[in-house]
Amino acid sequence: MRKKIVAGNWKMNNDSAQTEALISELLSKKPEHSVAKIVIAPSFVNLQAAVQQTHGTSIIVAAQNMHQAESGAYTGETSVGMLKGIKVNTVILGHSERRAYFGETNALLAEKVNTALSHNLTIIFCFGEELADRQGGNHFNVVESQLREGLFHISRENWSSVVLAYEPVWAIGTGETASPEQAQEMHAFIRNLIRNEIGAGVADATSILYGGSVKPDNAREIFSKPDVDGGLIGGASLKAGDFLEIVNGMQ
Ligand code: 13P
Repeated sequence: MRKKIVAGNWKMNNDSAQTEALISELLSKKPEHSVAKIVIAPSFVNLQAAVQQTHGTSIIVAAQNMHQAESGAYTGETSVGMLKGIKVNTVILGHSERRAYFGETNALLAEKVNTALSHNLTIIFCFGEELADRQGGNHFNVVESQLREGLFHISRENWSSVVLAYEPVWAIGTGETASPEQAQEMHAFIRNLIRNEIGAGVADATSILYGGSVKPDNAREIFSKPDVDGGLIGGASLKAGDFLEIVNGMQ
């Protein structure tokens, strides 16, 4: 069964006081009957407090990144063991901002994926084409290679720990969202690729989220598409009211 998920990627926003305030607001207003699982990804320094604050609730706290090595001389980095140690069991990997600004390649992401899976973390694996790829009609090829090179090496059993997030780079933070039809077309392509390469069971059980300028006024239509299982939300996840409206858009 595919899970419905709405995840907020807070990126480099919110200090500790703002993190606490936003979580309080989410907890107090959280819809009783939301069909979607709610995930939030605060910055590293606020993860531990976020885990404590959401303890006993259904909100899942995720990290935005982690290093591929178990430990060692990697100044400024955070390991999988450090995440596990504070009970963070979900990590976003391969976000386009990590790929673009921090040089994360498909090969590096394959290593991060292996490290995360070997510690039983759930991965929200991000990928998506740039504007030039789409304009040149190359978007399916780009997405396919990101998935083949970064993810498709994992064992069939490990797919139950993977959530996919298709985030076209041209739609992130731009206000220009993919149309519901464009999102559905790509999500169907991805599911088909998984069906052919990995198997029908995995294809039918893997959640594929859409990310890129999802807002309260467009979420419901995007989420209504048959292969869209939820969203990865940036800007609109920083306001509790907007984020919860998006969560409610998942029917
Ligand atoms: P926006 O919702 O701000 O476009 O960001 C999407 C995103 O990058 C989520 O990871």
